[in-house]
Amino acid sequence: MEHHAAPDLDADAALAALEWLVELGVTEAVGDAPVNSYDLPDTLARMRAAEPAPEPAAQARPAPELAVVRPQREEGPDPVAVARAAAERARSLDDLREAITAYDLCELKKGAKSTVFADGNPKARVMIIGEAPGRDEDVQGKPFVGRAGHLLDKMFAAIGLSRETPDAEGAFYITNVLPWRPPGNRDPEPLEIAQMLPFLRRHVELADPDLIVLMGNAACAAALGQRGILRLRGKWAEAFGRPALPMTHPAYLLRQPHAKREAWADLLALRARLNALAP
Ligand code: URA
Repeated sequence: MEHHAAPDLDADAALAALEWLVELGVTEAVGDAPVNSYDLPDTLARMRAAEPAPEPAAQARPAPELAVVRPQREEGPDPVAVARAAAERARSLDDLREAITAYDLCELKKGAKSTVFADGNPKARVMIIGEAPGRDEDVQGKPFVGRAGHLLDKMFAAIGLSRETPDAEGAFYITNVLPWRPPGNRDPEPLEIAQMLPFLRRHVELADPDLIVLMGNAACAAALGQRGILRLRGKWAEAFGRPALPMTHPAYLLRQPHAKREAWADLLALRARLNALAP
């Protein structure tokens, strides 16, 4: 029997890949010959053959809703200008964390327990941008540590990436558009996104990843100025001057498990692009 070697899968990654297949609903092996999921070009070609023709890649353009947003204050400093100046002064990720923690012009800060900055390996080639902390993240002060975060960890482990590893090749770095939990986990408002966007832009510059993953609508609104994640997902775009892949948010995948098949295709596309860019 022909042997297909997986690329440097250690026991944890192999287990995560198996768990992910179980998440996808796989209950048994079918067919006589093994299919290597890491045989990316063939696997993707087969999956794409079954899908409608792709639309052109999303182009980054100024967010319409961000362009018209004006701070609602009659007096006092312009919160977006203050954020921009503070972000531009930051020379390191530690500076940036301090600048965000000191920024008092976003109302969300008042209701949050923690300022949730980032997690993972800042030297990673992949940076994931989510929406905002939920309850668990607010309590623990780290992004993506609740149910959605556990699914996200499993998804990325299945393509050999983890937030724990010190090795930049096998790591990811993760943050959110907003560092404070919106009350009741409501959607971020355009003004909140506009205020925190200068910090996010600087965050990407300082972490300097090769590739960005935009997890869900808020990340696409902030980074691409576009919403409609079900239309955008899986199509490479450009955000903050580098390739960015919109994906459905793991919280959505928990509610809509049938969407995991497309998420797997997106993960494979990410793995393939990383391999193609390998230093
Ligand atoms: N959802 C997000 O987008 N970010 C988190 O940190 C947690 C859940």
